[in-house]
Amino acid sequence: MQTFIETQFPIARLSAESYKERKAGASQTLTGLGKWWGRKPLVLVRASIIGMLMPASSDAKRDREIFLKILTMDDEGTWLRCKPAIQRKTSRAAFNALPYADRITNCERPENVEGPSKEAWADINEHLGTTANNISELVEQLGQRTFGHTPRVGDSFCGGGSIPFEAARIGCDAFGSDLNPVAGLLTWASLNLLGGGKEVQDEVRQVQEKVFAQTDKQITDWGIEHNDRGERAEAYLYCVEVKPEGCEFYIPLAPSWVISEKYRIVCTWKRVEGSEQLQPEVLTVSDDELKLYKNKKGATAINSRAVDPFDANRSWSIESLRGPNGLRRWAKNDVVPRPGDVFQERLYCIRWIDAKGNRRYAAPDEHDIEREKKVLGLLKDRFSNWQNEGFIPSAVIPEGGDETARLYRERGWTHWHHLFTPRQLLTIGSLAARLPSNHKYSLPRLGNLADFNSRLTRYPSTRETINNTFSNQALNTMFNFPCRGLLLCKNVFVLQSSVDEFPRLESTTVMLMDARDLSETCDIWITDPPYADAVNYHELGDFFLAWFDKQLVKAFPEWTPDARAELAVRGDGEDFRRSMVDIYQNLAHHMPENGLQMVMFTHQDPAVWADLGMILWAAGLKATAAWTISTETEAAGIKQGNYVQGTVCLVLRKRIGLEPGYLDEVYPLVEDEVKRQIASMQALDEGDEPNFNDADYQLAAYAAALKVLTQYGNLDGRDVEDEVFAVRAKNEKSDFQAVIERALGIACDTLIPNGLDNSWRDLSLVERYYLRGLDIESRGERRQGMYEELARGFGVANIRPLLKSDKANGARMHTPSGLAASGLAQLGSNDSGEALPSKRGRASADTTHPFASTPLRHLLFAIRETTVADNSPEPGRQYLRDTFGQGYWTKRDGFVRLLEWLSALGNTAEMAEWRADSEAARILAGRLRNDHA
Ligand SMILES: C[S@@+](CC[C@H](N)C(=O)[O-])C[C@H]1O[C@@H](n2cnc3c(N)ncnc32)[C@H](O)[C@@H]1O
Repeated sequence: MQTFIETQFPIARLSAESYKERKAGASQTLTGLGKWWGRKPLVLVRASIIGMLMPASSDAKRDREIFLKILTMDDEGTWLRCKPAIQRKTSRAAFNALPYADRITNCERPENVEGPSKEAWADINEHLGTTANNISELVEQLGQRTFGHTPRVGDSFCGGGSIPFEAARIGCDAFGSDLNPVAGLLTWASLNLLGGGKEVQDEVRQVQEKVFAQTDKQITDWGIEHNDRGERAEAYLYCVEVKPEGCEFYIPLAPSWVISEKYRIVCTWKRVEGSEQLQPEVLTVSDDELKLYKNKKGATAINSRAVDPFDANRSWSIESLRGPNGLRRWAKNDVVPRPGDVFQERLYCIRWIDAKGNRRYAAPDEHDIEREKKVLGLLKDRFSNWQNEGFIPSAVIPEGGDETARLYRERGWTHWHHLFTPRQLLTIGSLAARLPSNHKYSLPRLGNLADFNSRLTRYPSTRETINNTFSNQALNTMFNFPCRGLLLCKNVFVLQSSVDEFPRLESTTVMLMDARDLSETCDIWITDPPYADAVNYHELGDFFLAWFDKQLVKAFPEWTPDARAELAVRGDGEDFRRSMVDIYQNLAHHMPENGLQMVMFTHQDPAVWADLGMILWAAGLKATAAWTISTETEAAGIKQGNYVQGTVCLVLRKRIGLEPGYLDEVYPLVEDEVKRQIASMQALDEGDEPNFNDADYQLAAYAAALKVLTQYGNLDGRDVEDEVFAVRAKNEKSDFQAVIERALGIACDTLIPNGLDNSWRDLSLVERYYLRGLDIESRGERRQGMYEELARGFGVANIRPLLKSDKANGARMHTPSGLAASGLAQLGSNDSGEALPSKRGRASADTTHPFASTPLRHLLFAIRETTVADNSPEPGRQYLRDTFGQGYWTKRDGFVRLLEWLSALGNTAEMAEWRADSEAARILAGRLRNDHA
């Protein structure tokens, strides 16, 4: 029996919902618990589970309607989710007429509403033969039907816990495990704290409020945050300073000295007679002056150089300042730089707030400096005791990791507590020390405090909020950074989220396990492995673990508080493949014969997943469907250009039996399957709300190939596992890969750009590639990987000369004018490839590229001649006649059709670059149409 997800999936709507959920930022249900990287959208998890439980009927359209109803993603459901204020303003018809993504901007997320209406349940029950009144009853009944019990859903790489959390919320028995103790704790908390219901949440909040109030009193008594103007410090801004050789003073470092754009606050520096330290002044400036500061006036850290604030021409490379032997390594008891260290640190601004809520920025005065000293003294008094108790970190930072190496190199930091100022350690430590011992519900709060209050955070002058350490996936050191006063720690410490109780909380389990060693059985495994992943979970996780390692052992005696980095799955080489095959073999053993798996993974380059397909095949699984959902990303910013855009959801079942396959028989089967798959997707596409884009079709082609291939236990007598691990030369392909690529070729050729149906047959592969490239470009596709993927499909080896830009997220094809400028279309050559006499300074160009001698390239050149001649078509026409001689007349109709297609390109904003060329194409088409021999 096929399940819904094995036949279809509402990709467009789910992408819109997933995107909305990700955009909710801090108000996503699980983010409030603590940072983890790559959390999967809950709505996607919910849809996946329902999609794997719901049987497919012979009526695909009705199945889809019912599925959307269950998720409240049908028209009625979205209307009911629409916020009342909007409902009052809009008519239902007008609301329904909006594109889905626009509709849901004013809706609650599906997870935050009660569920389908009574009427909807009647329809759902009628179609599915169930008697459910809510989603957990539906899950129970569908599970009973397929597996004979409540379905058990597991995730062996559970990370932040999205998968077990959502599974439990909709009524499944949920199992989650991860290698990393921080992930284990977050998952445990998602299930037991959020899933534990209001009572537990209220109790935990009360404990945290109380601890906060006690700490507040203590800090007030110490007098370390209050001044004698009746103000309290909300935030402190620090910077690193350095005294280069030959410089008479310490240079405070910051890439910009703007503190608040809204209030036009900046920091400036003054020399002081007889002192090597500059003195900060915090000023309110005019709008014009602010602009100068935004343009780096006085900036002292530019392009990895320390710049003299008074003479921008004087600068020193930061790397050279660190010296040939690198920085002094901080000792365990260091909390601030020692005198003589290359990098010193100082406070340069305090943000105060008074009883009325007025904000004031000021440079520190001598009392503030005294208070800083007091903080250091208070910390020193408690330091070793707190480290022993585990209220502040004491662990060593593992040396030489991808992320951690830079902490040693750039700051000399060797222990996790070095990433926090004395004030940060004192504040978080005071809270930690007051928590009741064994209060496991609050351990994630300590990690959260660390995330939002470390030397690695930022204070964006546009927002005046304090970012978290992991606003991306790296441990980046900062030249200037904020520190929170206690008041700004409140929301980071006291639990904010609340969620209803889970129906079957007693049937949830969380373990800390290497996925190879699991022995739990689940009906459905949904996993999101660290596939060719940019995130070093084990290294980054240690940042948090350092804050509760000692408490964790007390709270979870069976857990080892160690990331066990050596067991972490990572990379994409042979070791990675070996561990993945082992893990998925293990999971396949631990599911019933009719069980299902979904492997999710997010990667920019769709090609890499063919490799994953092989791994899963070797693990004894067969693919039954694959869908891509756009889930958007968390890490634009620093690692720009590399962000991922789609999550591939691959559905798998156990392969039973060892049926042999033969390559020559497989090809036609793949061809049929690819065509069938594409046709069924095209049939589901809904006109103005297309479900699928190019990437989806390409993915579907791969999936179709995998579907055919993975049914077989071996291919031409060769074992799949041997093939996965066979040693190959760099560009050598396995037969398996060849089949998969062939599928892509079939898909590419099945998808003809609208309006080119009659010309397609006459075009060569490279010409088709160019036109399809334009086609995807015109639909907004900019991912370079997609242009490469297309090229694979058409067998075009070198696409560089055809692309105007091959930036990771800014790829586009050349226009005719662009091609001319790049040289490829510049060289006139006749059909035999011979160069035409040089005309208008045509330079020599790449005649070896297969595109250079194609009729399409000549046609593009004729367009270019038309634009150059101020839209007179004569030179272009003449060029074509000279180039093709008598052949011109047979080619003419085809040319006209292509020109017409090209003339429509420039109509959209996406293709504004084409405007002039499209106009020329239109004029040239007219001229050719009226040409007479
Ligand atoms: C992509 S994340 C999972 C994110 C998760 N699906 C979520 O929504 O939060 C991959 C996880 O695999 C874990 N991991 C890596 N190697 C592992 C192993 N050998 N066994 C179990 N888990 C492992 C990492 O700690 C990480 O949490």
